[in-house]
Amino acid sequence: MTQTEVTLKPSKLRLVQGLIVLLAGIVLAFAVGRMLRDVPHLADGTLPADEIDRAYVEHPWLAYLHIAPSVVYLIGAPIQLAHRIRSKHYTLHRRLGRVLLSCALLGGAFAIVFGVLHPYGGPGEAGASVVFGLWFLVCLVNAFRAIKRDDVVQHRRWMIRAFAVGIGVGTIRIWIFVFTAAGWLDFPDAFAVAFWLAFAMHVAFAEWWLRTSPQPRG
Ligand code: HEM
Repeated sequence: MTQTEVTLKPSKLRLVQGLIVLLAGIVLAFAVGRMLRDVPHLADGTLPADEIDRAYVEHPWLAYLHIAPSVVYLIGAPIQLAHRIRSKHYTLHRRLGRVLLSCALLGGAFAIVFGVLHPYGGPGEAGASVVFGLWFLVCLVNAFRAIKRDDVVQHRRWMIRAFAVGIGVGTIRIWIFVFTAAGWLDFPDAFAVAFWLAFAMHVAFAEWWLRTSPQPRG
């Protein structure tokens, strides 16, 4: 079936939009929670007792050069992907796009650095951070290169792939909750498995979406 023969069902679009809101909400809640836990320690010069929290307070630059630009990207990317806004406000799309692309590249690069140097989930999490962090960066660079040669269709496809990885952070949290609440894995192992599972699911989901949904040309 060619892409022009496929029509996007409103129910499918609504379902995916709902999932994006849910997952972005989870990520933003964790980002706020992270700041609320870290800032008092950073202000007082103390270290938290909790092992996960300690890495963020001991290495705030590495951690927040990942978290802060990534949050900006995650909030702004849905605006960029919305066809209605993109087609009506192209100048906004271009200007915001430059800011968000810079944020995503910075956040992605520091995701790899922090994930390799301070992974709570050990080598399993570090490996997933490298693999999917690199994939995230590759998608962004390909999206940028596509728009530089005015290939809007490929630009959009690579941006959807990148966003699918970014929003996967919310699914990681859901898996960690499931694994630990069910007593199947301890906390560090749950991190490692959840990183691989969630990001792999999201990479696969993006490919499914791109194959089964009509792609607007602008
Ligand atoms: C693009 C949107 C992203 C946002 C908004 C985001 C946000 C966050 C936040 C808020 C934390 C702190 C978690 C906590 O307090 O529990 C975090 C940690 C982390 N993120 Fe991201 N992230 C994003 C993408 C990524 C990507 C693409 C990767 C790697 C493939 C990644 C790797 C990591 C790692 C390794 C940690 C440290 C986890 C640990 O404590 O061991 N993130 N991120």
